Amino acid sequence: MKIIAHRGASGYAPENTLKAFELAVKMGARDFEFDIHRTKDGILVVHHDYDLKRTAAKEAKIAELAYEELKKINVAAHFAKNPSFQRTPRLEEVLDIIEPAARWLNFEIKNDGNVYPGVEEQLLAFLRSKPGLFEKAVVSSFDQGTVRRFRELSPELRLAYLSHGLSAMLLTPALKKAKAIGAVNFHINLRLAFKLNVAKIKKAGFRVCVYTVNNSKDALRMKEIGADGIFSNYPDIMTRCVDA
Ligand code: G3P
Ligand code: CA
Repeated sequence: MKIIAHRGASGYAPENTLKAFELAVKMGARDFEFDIHRTKDGILVVHHDYDLKRTAAKEAKIAELAYEELKKINVAAHFAKNPSFQRTPRLEEVLDIIEPAARWLNFEIKNDGNVYPGVEEQLLAFLRSKPGLFEKAVVSSFDQGTVRRFRELSPELRLAYLSHGLSAMLLTPALKKAKAIGAVNFHINLRLAFKLNVAKIKKAGFRVCVYTVNNSKDALRMKEIGADGIFSNYPDIMTRCVDA
């Protein structure tokens, strides 16, 4: 079972910062997940939310800031354990840190309502700009239009299905949608991660990864029910517990 560093080693360092990714690599992570947005001047950056309220206590949207402005804002302000200054990194800076260690990279594009038009072409160009990167990439988005556009642009790109508000009742139609876009992975919330659901998703031909698993008991249960991967903010603890 893959242990995927979720927003880097985000239990120990501010999520989606260079520090969190450096730490994840130091801990031996080989599989990584991170969230992508785009600045006003077209720079792809790694941050979870569309705005900076939660991470930096600032009333500003990433889409409305130029990178020169964004990089001055402390996105570690929310991180009580160590709020010392961390900036929002550019996507390429994150990749410089994790790609040499990585075997699997989940690029999660935040693009609800197509707030970043053309982000699909831009990310594909980035994936093709570095040797071997495209092959390690799995792209996902909660926005179904975004995922469809990725598929139209690239029949060979590996996609993962993600859906807000998925429930056991909605699993069958979701599996149909995932098949229709040619996804290889199906990523589910821990709330849905029960043996029957996981078995159903695997039977439909997908690899199942579960978010977010931060305690040993859940990690061991995921292994037992056959999850292919877990996203965790504590990749070191999860690795020790499932390998033991
Ligand atoms: O991609 C898995 C997981 O990260 C999705 O949820 O809100 O943490 O981006 P979120
Ligand atoms: Ca994410």
